[in-house]
Amino acid sequence: MSPEKPTDDLLNIEHPATGKKWELPVEDGCLRAVQLRQIPLGQTDLGLMSYDPSLLNTASCRSAITFIDGDAGILDYRGYSIEDLAESVSYPEVCYLILKGELPNRKELAAFQAELAEEAVLPAYLLELFASFPDEMHPMTMLASGLAALGAKYPESEKVLDEENRNKQIIRLLAKTPALAALAWRRTQSDSPVGPDPEKGFIVSFLRMLLGKPGEDFEVEESFARAMDALLTLHADHEQNCSTNAVRVVASSHVNPYSAVAAGCFALHGPLHGGANQAVLEMLEEIGTVEAIPAFLEACKCGDRRLMGFGHRVYKNYDPRAKVISGLVDSVLDAGQPDPRLEIARALEAAAREDDYFVSRKLFPNVDFYSGILYSAMGFPASMFTVFFAVGRMVGWLAHWDEMLRDSEQKIARPRQIYTGHSRREVPPMDKR
Ligand code: ACO
Repeated sequence: MSPEKPTDDLLNIEHPATGKKWELPVEDGCLRAVQLRQIPLGQTDLGLMSYDPSLLNTASCRSAITFIDGDAGILDYRGYSIEDLAESVSYPEVCYLILKGELPNRKELAAFQAELAEEAVLPAYLLELFASFPDEMHPMTMLASGLAALGAKYPESEKVLDEENRNKQIIRLLAKTPALAALAWRRTQSDSPVGPDPEKGFIVSFLRMLLGKPGEDFEVEESFARAMDALLTLHADHEQNCSTNAVRVVASSHVNPYSAVAAGCFALHGPLHGGANQAVLEMLEEIGTVEAIPAFLEACKCGDRRLMGFGHRVYKNYDPRAKVISGLVDSVLDAGQPDPRLEIARALEAAAREDDYFVSRKLFPNVDFYSGILYSAMGFPASMFTVFFAVGRMVGWLAHWDEMLRDSEQKIARPRQIYTGHSRREVPPMDKR
């Protein structure tokens, strides 16, 4: 199904007391919020505003990158379905598609991979920085700190309005983020770093930095490489989600992209966003047995608990990414560690999907419901899941950054508010407070 173009129209507004009328244009199914300002309110008059906490019904930009139809369970990058891309296209091809709008031909792909390969190594000061981090530091905090610190090496990245310069930073960030993620993982294990081997391709090089031994050849299970490639593809973009919005808002100040994507990492780290897959595994461990599922669901229904990995702001149907991941789980578990949590997850999904509470609220598994089990089967602990999510999402953040800077309608992000505090008053002296 392709996106339907909303009709343009006029919205007529009449003030009941004064009979005054306004005709406000509706473009692409949207009313421009600034048009409301022509409707006066009273003496202090900046005009009528719209109130939209959490931006539930506000389009903040035009974007040609990703289309989602949450009711139908559809996710497309640049017009291609996520299922087709995960099945038949590699992650670097998806990156090229998201950034440039079309899938690469052989020559374009080879040139793109060569650019990535050239930028795959981290500057040495980052190894020292990671070595100085405390043992208990979360790898996601390491990744965000590493990204912000990486920017220090490239002062020209401040020239965000220069397209050529932007392209250079995009390649750098895409190429070096896997190395930073792997460094964060190895730091948590107190293991020495292993460098990239981009000749082996983006995914195998990433897995080598994560799992390889210094100075030794690296072989990887085919199913692991396939799963990592698909997981990065599934996470590559998701239009105006919390972290992408954070990147856009922070970057709207024209700060360098390293700082903007570091902000994206922190937004992604929260348990209601990318941190949910960690929360899913903790929940499955807590449930412990299939017999304990009904009591847990009851606790969710009366609001004491939340069924992590279920529900989504946009999807009111099966998240298409969760379908692909659910299909990958068995092949990875066959090659990796068997996981008793999978039985609980499958039974929990089946029970929730028959329960009226979840059915009536259109709560289905989201991308995080099975992704943790997959990463876990590959030998990674929950603290690394969001780091992998960030590696995959980096391309989406960068594509949105670039798109925003090309958009002449965009200014520094600065919402308005409804002030609910005191009216002006005098500062009382200390002994009268
Ligand atoms: N478990 C139990 N009840 C839920 C859940 C859940 N996971 N999700 C929503 N609900 C209920 C709400 O309590 C609410 O019930 P009510 O109508 O009786 O008040 C109703 O469903 C609507 O929920 P909202 O909170 O309004 O939905 P919203 O769109 O704001 O939240 C969110 C979406 C944050 C993802 C929510 O579903 C949630 O917390 N899910 C669990 C966390 C999770 O898996 N997050 C990952 C999302 S995917 C991602 O970010 C990559």
